[in-house]
Amino acid sequence: MYRETPQPIHLKDYRPPEFLIDRVELRFELDPECTHVESRLDLRRNPAAPPGGGDLWLDGEELRLTHLAIDGRVLASTEYRVDPRGLTLYQVPDRFTLETQVEIEPSLNTALKGLYQSGDLLCTQCEAENFRRITYFLDRPDVLARYTTTLIADQARFPVLLSNGNPIARAELTDGRHSVTWEDPFPKPSYLFALVAGDLSLIEDRFVTASGREVRLQLFVEPHNRDKGEHALNALKKAMRWDEERFGREYDLDFYMIVAVSHFNMGAMENKGLNIFNDKFVLARPDTATDADFDGIESIIAHEYFHNWTGNRITCRDWFQLSLKEGLTVYRDQEFSSDVGSRAVKRIRDVRALRTHQFAEDAGPLAHPVRPESYIEIDNFYTATVYDKGAELVRMQSALLGPTTFRHATDLYFARHDGQAVTIEDFVRCMEDASGRDLSQFRRWYEQAGTPELFIRGHYDAATWTYTLNVRQETPPTPNQPIKRPLHIPLAIGLLGPDGRESPVWLAGEPEPPAPGTRLLELTEPEQQFVFTGLSERPVPSILRGFSAPVRVHDDLSDADRLFLMAHDRDGFCRWDAAQTLHERLILALVADETHPIPEDYLAAFRHALGDTTADRALLAEMLTLPSETYLGDRMAVIDVEGLHRAHRHLMCELGCRLRTELLAIYDSHAETGPYVFAPEAVGRRALKNLALSYLVYAGDESGLACCRAQFETAHNMTDVMAALGLLVDQGGDEAEAALQSFYRRWTGEPLVIDKWFSVQAKFARPDALERVKALIHHPDYSPHNPNRVRALVGTFAKTNQVCFHAVDGSGYRFLVDQVLELDPINPVLAAQLLKPFERWRRFDAGRQALMRTELERILGREGLSSDVFEVASKALA
Ligand code: ARG
Ligand code: ZN
Repeated sequence: MYRETPQPIHLKDYRPPEFLIDRVELRFELDPECTHVESRLDLRRNPAAPPGGGDLWLDGEELRLTHLAIDGRVLASTEYRVDPRGLTLYQVPDRFTLETQVEIEPSLNTALKGLYQSGDLLCTQCEAENFRRITYFLDRPDVLARYTTTLIADQARFPVLLSNGNPIARAELTDGRHSVTWEDPFPKPSYLFALVAGDLSLIEDRFVTASGREVRLQLFVEPHNRDKGEHALNALKKAMRWDEERFGREYDLDFYMIVAVSHFNMGAMENKGLNIFNDKFVLARPDTATDADFDGIESIIAHEYFHNWTGNRITCRDWFQLSLKEGLTVYRDQEFSSDVGSRAVKRIRDVRALRTHQFAEDAGPLAHPVRPESYIEIDNFYTATVYDKGAELVRMQSALLGPTTFRHATDLYFARHDGQAVTIEDFVRCMEDASGRDLSQFRRWYEQAGTPELFIRGHYDAATWTYTLNVRQETPPTPNQPIKRPLHIPLAIGLLGPDGRESPVWLAGEPEPPAPGTRLLELTEPEQQFVFTGLSERPVPSILRGFSAPVRVHDDLSDADRLFLMAHDRDGFCRWDAAQTLHERLILALVADETHPIPEDYLAAFRHALGDTTADRALLAEMLTLPSETYLGDRMAVIDVEGLHRAHRHLMCELGCRLRTELLAIYDSHAETGPYVFAPEAVGRRALKNLALSYLVYAGDESGLACCRAQFETAHNMTDVMAALGLLVDQGGDEAEAALQSFYRRWTGEPLVIDKWFSVQAKFARPDALERVKALIHHPDYSPHNPNRVRALVGTFAKTNQVCFHAVDGSGYRFLVDQVLELDPINPVLAAQLLKPFERWRRFDAGRQALMRTELERILGREGLSSDVFEVASKALA
């Protein structure tokens, strides 16, 4: 909690640490009410740092210091000073051992930073700067040390005691307590420290690495969740094999432990050898988890595993470099998911998420570069920009280098920087050194915020058989960055002949045409022209294949061109994108004019697609899914909340009516047969079936409704149950209430399923949605102390229920801010996360803007606000 205005930290102020820590010995006497932490640090002056004043600063927050000694000598009170942020030791020797003892209170730690209690467990979250809530330390990622950790706790209450590395000693103590000592052979930054204590049930598997070492894979869950761990363990084994094959990375310890906890601020944490997960991203059984849940688990398990090399073995010098590990690791988990599932579908989902969340971030008041230049609270920078745009930057470099050279470049990165804390610059340098390419202009991507826009015009000249593409790039201004320089942009394109076949993308002046197919153009100038030759007829250009760069494209294609691409393009992303643009234009036309007709050729394309029994089901479902109201709003000059909702509904309803026969046929022919399997083909079938069902139900179709009721009653997998329940709740009435009640009764005792029960009630634009959400805040199962529950109810309402959250009377805004203010003293990270929807506030009409501004000001008027919430609210208003 801050008293004065919190001050930003700047990248330009980075200084190497004055001291290094070689060894850390920790001894915990664990107790939820009062835990004693003893630490012994071997410190020495950093030869690489410019000489300082001789004092040593150690970070430490919310610690009660009970003992302090240097080389065994207890310090007098004149030799040090304690303040709320840390400890200053006056005039220390160049090399010494520091002993401290502190007391902390895990059971009161509702912020879930440092050591905290989750149910009957004790666990930690140290990234980014929370190790300082456990002991006094140089809590910065460029201080790497070897840790030995002894955990002591009551044996009955905490039979399992885990920390990083390998267990090297165990003992039973006489007072009913026991102890386990762990040693981590790899030097690591403090943010990767972890411990877990509790009564956990172990599910064990094994993995033999490429070089023949056996690794024990241990998944720890609360005993009643033993039957929900198989999917996560399978995902882990797949990820381990994939990283060996694709990146040549082998696992390096004898144990790989994963613990699922029910209170967690983010998705999961890659602590060395001991990942701690939000249980939502571990636990799954076909009847409790949806396909989307299974998918999320697979990719997050992989993500945390991949961090072992990109994050742990090679870590970040400072937190401005966060994307060094996060962007690269997201890129790696995306590639993994593409290889084990469908590449096109994965790409489409990632692009949809990027366009919805990251583009909005880039267009809003909190826009920041992938490598930010300053921050107040680093927890606010675990953003779509740092993660997902960061992954796009790695993807672009891999495209520019090509697969073979990119692999050489990552090999070089791992060889050159293993065991170091490095910068994004070091990464890009490896890309350059391995390829001989000059990426100086490419580096601007890391420095410039904002989404670049490409304006593309095509012209066919029948006389010369040439097709000319004119491409102009422009990046809009963002806070503190009024002027943008041109970027180095890889633009993948194809040219389709009138028969739908690929033409060679042959640049005028080249002696011979290349083979037909995709070609990577490189943009470096504000405006560039490409002349393609050898084209006897006007081609249809397939632009930004595979979404080769995170940009917005404005082209001059006609609706007919898009229908053509939707039918013929070999690039799955471009087929989808053509369909999305058609949906978007139609919905926006309907917003402007409710009577706008639904074009026959659009319907015909839909009908044709539904009738194509050979097409990939998942891809088809993606193509036929309309863009969300949130995304469509971002495409309008001023977001028309009600108009969009009406138009969206109207189109769904029209599609349901006009394509009734085809949709019913899809529904019937895609019924679930046999037991649930999580495999791309089966997931695609369910997605398409449930999409068909939603169109039918929105159209008020009686047989559709009957199917929906039956599906809710009889389905055995959570994907189908939730699809049906959502539609019933959206319809409202007694039937919805009955369904909700039976669902609740069936699933009390399964908190992750009860989260779904909360969120399904917050999601839909029912007139009573806000009243219902407000009432649910008082439900005995609701708790502000469980982030998953808060996000399920409050987060879902503010993020997905556009109409009710943006109610003209401001009631949605007031509700959200009431919740944020109530949560802030409990859990500032979570409170700040919930404010995300307010970042769009300037995109609405004057009335709504005024209401949102008032609410943001109300936040800033609150005394004792956390720096997390202060940063978001104050920057939003700036
Ligand atoms: N490093 C984690 C991941 O992306 C995220 C944890 C961040 N947590 C936090 N409270 N800042 O895998
Ligand atoms: Zn990560």
